[in-house]
Amino acid sequence: MPEITITDRDGGEHRVAGRVGVSLMETLREFDYGVAAICGGMCSCATCHVYVAEPWLDKLPPMQGDEKEILQELESYRPRGSRLSCQIPFEEPLAGIQVEIAPEE
Ligand code: FES
Repeated sequence: MPEITITDRDGGEHRVAGRVGVSLMETLREFDYGVAAICGGMCSCATCHVYVAEPWLDKLPPMQGDEKEILQELESYRPRGSRLSCQIPFEEPLAGIQVEIAPEE
């Protein structure tokens, strides 16, 4: 199974198996240190906010719809790296992706 490296809010690093064919959020929310994903992937709560490490940014699908707008309203928004993990389908080419869980707001 392709792996995901997750940096939690305390700086701890975790290597976990990613679930292919569903969003990155679906894997991240399985862990206590992961994301809350309150809206369940409807692109409306921003509680699935992560920072994606540079090498994978260009492999991600472009932002659609409201994603950028929602992200830009966050204090923790970073122009390069911020994504809503519910909007990233996890597929084989993303194996090894490194994400950091963004602060809670
Ligand atoms: S789960 Fe709510 S915006 Fe991603």
